[in-house]
Order: sequence, then C-alpha cells, then structure tokens
Amino acid sequence: PESISDLLDRLSAIVPDYPVEGVSFKDLTPVFADPLGLRRIVDEVIEPFAGQFDVVAGLEARGFVLAAAAAYASGTGMITVRKAGKLPRPVHRDEYSLEYGTGTLELHRDDITPGTRVLVLDDVLATGGTVGSSVRLLAMAGADVIGVGVVLELEALAGRKQLAGLNVHSLQLV
Ligand code: PRP
Ligand code: MG
Repeated sequence: PESISDLLDRLSAIVPDYPVEGVSFKDLTPVFADPLGLRRIVDEVIEPFAGQFDVVAGLEARGFVLAAAAAYASGTGMITVRKAGKLPRPVHRDEYSLEYGTGTLELHRDDITPGTRVLVLDDVLATGGTVGSSVRLLAMAGADVIGVGVVLELEALAGRKQLAGLNVHSLQLV
C-alpha cells in the first residue's frame, strides 16, 4: 500500500512563489478533492488518538474540512474555533501572532463542559500561532486537549516548540 507521505506527494499541488516569492507552497486542496485522499488523511490524522476524545475542534477555515469528517468518522461531535466576529453568542477570545500583525480567534463559551476531552485538528502547523491560540481558548473553557493532529508540519517554522506539553501528530514534515 502507498505510504501517507507518497500519497501526499502524489496528490498535493506545489505552487512556486506563493504566497511570496521564494516560498514553495504545498496546496492540499487536491488531496481533499480526492475520494481516497480525503478518507486516508482523516483516518491517519485521528488514528493515534482513537478512543481518547469526546469532541473534535476544527480551526477556521481549512481545519473545518478535516474536523467535520473526523468527527463523523469517529462518532463524535465537532466544535468550531472561529475568526473574530463570526460567532453569535458569548465567546472566549484570544489574540495570536501572525507573520505580520495579529489575528483573533473565538470559541463559544458553552461549546465545552469542563473536562471534555478535545482533539484539535488543522491542515497545517506552521509557526504554531493558530493551534496555540486555539488550545488557550479551549483551556479557558475547561477542556482537556488530548492531542493535536495536522496534515503538514512546516519544520523550519518550529511550531511544535510553541506547543510544548501537547501531543502533536503530523502526517508529513515539509
Ligand atoms: C493557515 C493554515 C493554518 C495556519 C498555520 O491558516 O490553515 O491554520 O495558517 O499557521 P500558523 O501555525 O503559523 O498559525 P490561515 O490563517 O491562513 O487561514 P485559513 O485556514 O482560514 O485559510
Ligand atoms: Mg487555517
């Protein structure tokens, strides 16, 4: 059988000089679009955490693709960590650093009851700003974040270092 790394290499689209010159961007949209590709990445990203979580948290926007499928596959529910201003009811709010400036993420306060075991899913771990912020939000709500799953980990940006103490599972280092 094809390894997960070979599958990602075969189906991902490499975009030179995107988003800025000199950067080679690995676009996962063709993996999501492929029936076996989507199934495989979802199955592999949740595999080490099987039976250990009550709910999956998806990080807007690209994390939603994985998280909804993972929740369905594992028979759990899904909660949404959203960019500021999207959620209609009272939220926890957290600011995080971007390459230039800051972003803000929000979580509905009542999405989590204290002690809920949460698996956090996103497509890519880069600097770790997005996952780190999401984990802080979930902690504010009393969640027990049991792990973080991503498809790609951009090793040079050392996001994993920002996430000390968390169980981070990536399918491919790039
Ligand atoms: C991208 C990607 C991750 C994040 C990784 O999201 O989907 O969520 O960046 O970067 P970090 O580890 O440095 O935080 P982006 O904020 O571009 O938005 P999107 O998912 O809504 O497209
Ligand atoms: Mg994102």
